[in-house]
Parts: sequence; structure tokens; C-alpha cells
Amino acid sequence: MENKEKFYITTPIYYPSDKLHIGHAYCTVATDAIARYKRMCGYDVMFLTGTDEHGQKIEEKAKEAGVTPKEFVDRIVTGEKGVLDLWKLMNISNDRFIRTTDEYHVEAVQKIFRKMYEKGDIYKGAYKGKYCTPCESFWTESQLVDGKCPDCGRPVHDAEEEAYFFRLSKYAKPVQELLESGDFLQPASRVNEMINNFIKPGLEDLCVSRTSFKWGIPVDFDPGHVVYVWVDALFNYCTALGFLNDEHNDFEKYWPADVHIVGKEIVRFHSIIWPAMLMSMELPLPKKVYGHGWLVIDGGKMSKSRGNVVDPYVLAEKFGVDALRFFLLRTFPFGSDGNFSNELLINTINKDLANDLGNLVSRTTAMVEKYFGGTLIDERQADELDNELIDFIKNTKARYEKQMDEFQLHLGLEEVFKLIQRANKYIDETAPWVLAKDEANKPRLAAVMYNLLEALRAALTMLTPFIPESCEKAFEQIGADASCRTWDKAGEYGVLPAQVSVHKGETLFPRVDMDKTLKELEELEHLNKAPQSKPVLPDVSIDDFAKCDMRVCKVLSCEAVKKSEKLLKFQLDDGSGTPRQILSGIRKFYEPEQLVGKTVVAILNLPPRKMMGQMSNGMLLSAVKEVDGEEKLQLVMLDDSVPAGAQLC
Ligand code: ME8
Repeated sequence: MENKEKFYITTPIYYPSDKLHIGHAYCTVATDAIARYKRMCGYDVMFLTGTDEHGQKIEEKAKEAGVTPKEFVDRIVTGEKGVLDLWKLMNISNDRFIRTTDEYHVEAVQKIFRKMYEKGDIYKGAYKGKYCTPCESFWTESQLVDGKCPDCGRPVHDAEEEAYFFRLSKYAKPVQELLESGDFLQPASRVNEMINNFIKPGLEDLCVSRTSFKWGIPVDFDPGHVVYVWVDALFNYCTALGFLNDEHNDFEKYWPADVHIVGKEIVRFHSIIWPAMLMSMELPLPKKVYGHGWLVIDGGKMSKSRGNVVDPYVLAEKFGVDALRFFLLRTFPFGSDGNFSNELLINTINKDLANDLGNLVSRTTAMVEKYFGGTLIDERQADELDNELIDFIKNTKARYEKQMDEFQLHLGLEEVFKLIQRANKYIDETAPWVLAKDEANKPRLAAVMYNLLEALRAALTMLTPFIPESCEKAFEQIGADASCRTWDKAGEYGVLPAQVSVHKGETLFPRVDMDKTLKELEELEHLNKAPQSKPVLPDVSIDDFAKCDMRVCKVLSCEAVKKSEKLLKFQLDDGSGTPRQILSGIRKFYEPEQLVGKTVVAILNLPPRKMMGQMSNGMLLSAVKEVDGEEKLQLVMLDDSVPAGAQLC
């Protein structure tokens, strides 16, 4: 067997704290297309993905859900519609899947931590700083933006604990040299961002252990500590190949990684911390880190808390997996952010897939069936007009390859679509329906059909990494057997047999009705957006419930309590004839005058309470909602037809 060149490519390993959204699928689909492309080019590809399962956030979420952290992550990773199901659905061709809770990984990380400690690159100290729990990131005061996490904009909290530190500062110079040399980090614009924002202000040593929670890999020589989740996570790229474990044995073969594909917010971890730790471990460095942009909605990041998560299951079911894969990679430049919308998705499907590609396949196969009974004749009469199309077929491969090798996936696709559009134009130029009127034109008509089939064959070969299932079907329709689908033939002309047989099959990409589908999606998304509520509290008896005297009240007056940032003072008509005073901590959310005349709900029989020197005789009911990661209160209000004093039951 020939000795193939290896290509090791990775995605970030996903944090299973919530169900994945289409933004997560973006990164994995892109990596999958690159991996498939490299396989097609003849590389021995290792494509790794997985899940990053430790950390405080998961510990907290599991607690909220009343299960152990392992049970919690199992549900999201291996459960129904979990991570594994999603990758299967999206036709992801990963060769390996790692979970950081896998025993072999846990043991290897312990060995790695010990090795860096014994070398003196990890030492014990005390950590004082800021911590963003959702991002599992430590920050120094100077790194915060408006006092909030610079990555996600959410509040951070003070953290102080005994901790181990990694001597990141020691590696500042070689890391800077690495960033400045060649093309380690791409797109190039990210290099200055890293140097100016992180290296130039001075790289501080990195806190790499925690003691305030348990859900992590224990430091084996100091078991009160767990390894910082990013150290644990980054080394997955090595342990999944068998580094310091016996589970796998291809570390020698595949390491270093040829490329780590990562989202832009984790470029810092991959281009600064990761090379520094590899230097400490005296391991070869990855050849490249590629930081892709985000899929955003109305300019904001997708996240569960924004309530605008787009469910890949819903979209894949509606449009088909290939259409979804294609849309993600065709529409947005891989290195930049892309604004996701259902309209854009439908437009892309209709224009590129239904119109340009789908029509070319169906028109060509229909004409070969109609004019030749499905099988072309051997006799072909070439024409000057053919040369441009034939040159296009021959030249597209090199142009596509150049873009794909630089991970410019959208531009690679652009080259293929130029060929498809050229072929559609060729149909108009040659007007086969006119040629078909005269039997004497059959050889010319055969040449036209053959050229179209050849253009399709070349285009489909290059589209295979993006829409593999549809290409398989289309190849069958145009009569291209396996020997005609190979990469080496993608830039050749004359590959299909002269007497090729086609058959017009199912429509590959039906046109999508924009208005109808948008409406359906809106309804589905609405259902999908149902907020994840906290678990229900233990039962109470109906008698206990009846002890709570909840009444409808009308707001007679409302004013802010002096010197209090939180409190509003209400005078309420509770139906008794005497106004009732209640204080409520909702000043941040309402202007007092907004509330006068409103119909609200209060519990009347709570013990009176003094706040800021004023009495409060009861409590107004509010709903707690989360907006941009912050809790907000909204008063429970009824319509005006309900009279004051009406009891809630
Ligand atoms: O970062 N658009 O995990 P993660 C594009 N566990 N990409 C997006 C996205 C969006 N809207 N939302 C998320 C982690 N991503 C770590 C990685 S690697 C050793 C550890 C991308 O589940 C995000 O940029 O939070 C990241 O690359 C990937 O999804 C996983 O994010």
C-alpha cells in the first residue's frame, strides 16, 4: 500500500452544559468538509472531535437538575438528540470521539500535570482575581470590559484560593515568536489581536487548579485540587491519540496536529496557552490554529440565555442535512462572523441548490433521456463554443484547491458555482431544444450533452466534501461510477464513458416556499424556546397552599423609596377599604408612574417587615426572567376586569 501523508485535524471539544445549537454545528461541519476534502485528496486523515465535560458550570447545572455531574453530561452527550446524535445527523465523519471523563484521558492529564510540576513549570501559590463561571475563565482586573467578562459580557465574581500556577510568563517570548512567524495562527488578523491584547500587556502565570469545587480531574499529588478545565481540555488533542495512555497508539503517527479549527473566542487558549504548555512538555507544536467567526443573530451571539438558539434538528428536518451543511459553508466567510437568518437560508437553498445545481442536473438528465433515450451515442461533434466550458472544467480544480488549502471554504464553493453557472449558460448558448429538431444534429447534440455531464461530474466531485449524500445521488443520475468520481480526475475532461447512461431521479433540492416555511419555522421556534425551568419543589398540601392569602390589588400610588436603589413603595387597594402599603425591590425594572392603576397580585398575610425605615405589609408577586445572563423581575399583572380583593385560588 502507498504511504499516504497524514493530516490531523480537530474541532474544539464541546462543553455539554446545554444542547448544542447551530453555531456549534457550524464549526464541526466546516471541519468535516475539510477532513473529507483532505481524504479525497489522498491524505491519511485523523479527524477528532469530542466533549469537554468537567468544570464548575457543569457541577452547578447538575446540582440544579438534581443529578450527578456524570449523569448530567451523559444525558447531553449520549442521550436522545445529544451531541453524538447530532453529529450522526449532520453526517460528520470524525474518526475518533473523546470525552474528557474517559478514564484514559483522566489518567494521562494527571501524568501531564505532574510532569510540568516536577519540571518546575507548575508551582503552588494563591489565586486572587475574577472568575467568569459560564466561560470557566480567570481574568485579571485589567482584562475585564466594563467590569464584566471580556468574552461573554456577563458578570464575574471574586475568586481567591490556594492554587497551582503554570509559568506562562516564561514562555511569552517563544510564543510571541511563534505567533509572528509564518502562518501558525490564521486568519492573520488574529495575530495582532493576540499580541496586542495578551502578550504585550505582559503574560501572567496562569492559575491551573481549583479547590472551590470538585467536578474536575483531581491533582493526584494534592487531591483537594482539581485541574483547571482548560488544561484538561486542551490535552485531549494528544491523549485521544494515545499520549501517556494505552487506549490508543497513534500519537507518533499523527502528532503534531496539522490544524486545530476553533471559534474566535478560544483562539487565545489555542494560540498562547496551548503552545506554551506543549513547549513545557517538550512536544512538537501544532502546525496551525484557524480561528473561525461566529454565527450571530441580529449581531448578537447565539446562546441559550438569549433565547434565540436555532435548533439544528429543526432545520435539518425542514431543509435536509446537506442543504443545511451547504448553507453554513457557502454563505459566510469562514474567518468572519455571519448573520444567521432563516430567510438567508431559504434564499441560498433556492438560488444555489434548487436553481443553479438542481436545475443543471435535472435539465441535463431530462434532455439525455428525451433526446437519446437515456444513453448517449458515441459520435460527438465538437464545436469552438465548447472550448471555454472545457477549459473551465479543467481549471476549476486548481482554483478550488487553492482556496480549500487555505480553509477559504466559501471561496472554494464559489469556484464550483462559477463552473455550474457557466454550464447553465452553455445550455442557453447551444440551445439543445433547437438542435433536437433535426436528426442530422444528433452528433452535435451528443457533444453538448456530454460536455454538460462532464461539467457536472467535475462540480460534484468538488461538492462532495460539502454535500456528500446529494452528490452520491447526483453522480448516480449522471451515470458517473466510482472510477469517475476520484479527485485526480476532477480537473480532467473526457472522464465519463462516451456512451454514458443517465437516469433522471428524484429532485435533489426542491424549491422552498419562503413565506410558508418562515411561518412554520417561527411556530416551531416558539415551541422550542420554552425556557428551561428549575426543577419543581417538593409537594405541599392543599391546606398549606390555602394558608397563603393571595389577592388581586389595584395600584393607587407608587413612588421610589428615598436613598434606596431597589425599593418602590406602593399604596394598594386590596378590597378592604383601607390602603395597604407594600415595598417591592423592583425599582430597576419599572418607572413608578408606569405602575399606577395596574392590577397586580400580592400575598397579604406575610409578617410585616421594616425596610429602609418603612413598613411593608405583604409582598407583590413577580416572575423572574433571564435577559442576557441577568435576572430580571416582571410584576404579575392581570387585566383590569378583575376586582380588587379577588382571592387567588
Ligand atoms: O469552547 N458560531 O466549548 P463550547 C460559531 N470546551 N461557533 C460557535 C458558536 C456560534 N454561534 N457558538 C459556539 C468550548 N461556537 C471548549 C473548547 S477545546 C480544547 C475546548 C463554537 O462548547 C465555539 O467558538 O463552548 C467553539 O469553537 C465551539 O463552538 C465549542 O464551544
